[in-house]
Amino acid sequence: MPELSKLPERPAIRRQLPRWSELRPLLRTRRIELDATERRLRRALTIADLREAARRRTPRAAFDYTDGAAEGEVSLRRARSLFRRLQFNPSILRDVSKVETATTILGRPSAYPFAFAPTGFTRMMQHEGESAVARVAERVGIPYGLSTVGTTSIEDVAAAAPAADKWFQLYIWTDRAAGKDLVDRAREAGYTALVLTVDVPVAGARLRDVRNGMTIPPTLTPKTLIDMATHPAWWFNLLTTKPLTFASLSDWPGTVAELINTMFDPTVTFEDLAWMRESWPGSLVVKGIQNVDDARKVVDLGVDGVVVSNHGGRQLDRAPVPLELLPQVVDAVGDRAEVLVDTGIMSGADIVACLALGAKAALVGRAYLYGLMAGGERGVQRAADILGTEIRRTMQLLGVADVSELNRSHVTLPAVPF
Ligand SMILES: Cc1cc2nc3c(=O)[nH]c(=O)nc-3n(C[C@H](O)[C@H](O)[C@H](O)COP(=O)(O)O)c2cc1C
Repeated sequence: MPELSKLPERPAIRRQLPRWSELRPLLRTRRIELDATERRLRRALTIADLREAARRRTPRAAFDYTDGAAEGEVSLRRARSLFRRLQFNPSILRDVSKVETATTILGRPSAYPFAFAPTGFTRMMQHEGESAVARVAERVGIPYGLSTVGTTSIEDVAAAAPAADKWFQLYIWTDRAAGKDLVDRAREAGYTALVLTVDVPVAGARLRDVRNGMTIPPTLTPKTLIDMATHPAWWFNLLTTKPLTFASLSDWPGTVAELINTMFDPTVTFEDLAWMRESWPGSLVVKGIQNVDDARKVVDLGVDGVVVSNHGGRQLDRAPVPLELLPQVVDAVGDRAEVLVDTGIMSGADIVACLALGAKAALVGRAYLYGLMAGGERGVQRAADILGTEIRRTMQLLGVADVSELNRSHVTLPAVPF
């Protein structure tokens, strides 16, 4: 190596003044976005970004009700962590210039292999609520699940998104006749699937809600009055739109709190499922499957689909991680029923992993609720766009041109899941 002092002299760099014609192509002026919601949503590149925007815009009690899970929140953390820790195994030199994300879910076409999961009290998170979510599902071409404890009625959601593939989620509660009445109304309104949620014999312990003194609807206490100063738009929208009620249960004579106490019935058994199968001619799905035996039992009773789920970690803490259980359930019942999965999905890549491990489709809950809280209907659309883009890109990078080609070789789960 020659010494620096011995290096040959470098030729002098000739400098010149830049000409305007040379600078002009380098100048990129961005249109200033005057709409604050649009600005906020454009900046969100991931569901985690939408979550952050939602957190800033929403009063703590409502955000925590959505974001939180039960007890130590271990079920939710483990589910999200397994998605992060799995390994994708790509194949090279495949033609992925065109990617097909469309599939069928419960026998009906869906533009993407995911659906919006049923979530209660959606209008409490943001005033546009269930109708906004259903409209996005209609526009995107994916199914939407309305919760029994929705804050928009069965009929109003149907009117808001007449062409959407709508599912109705049912909690069988003490008053069986009232449940039957809801099921009849869902059928009348054109809902195609009944989703029976079976992981709520009693309500889970959402400790964030207890600590925040969360009530439904929110009550005006000194604490909430202070909150109004920091989230005036949210409170203005809440107080100037239809009061929050369980819209499909308008005949309920008591308070919302009393209804919640009677809503979950610890006496529900497989016999109720048999009864439900007789009274619902459409697709019947059991949501909340957490072991292979139960999956077999409900499929023996004639259901069309199961959702391997621990309710987004909002019920039993330290529950099985749905993604880990999924392949076993698929092996046991996949030839007789459609296997769906949820809990912990924060990206389109997570959905691709679910499909690779045998799910027909995934349900997403918080992912779209973060979008809703960040920017109403446009925020839900942004969440769907983010998930769709990530699904397509992940498939292309895996060397997969059609969702039907995804298989177990594309994903390796870690030997020690947590
Ligand atoms: C705020 C919130 C409310 C929910 N309400 C219901 C409900 O009323 N009925 C139901 O079956 N599941 C309900 N779920 C569970 C979802 O359907 C789904 O299983 C869960 O959100 C999936 O996990 P993820 O949020 O990590 O995607 C709720 C979930 C959240 C986050």
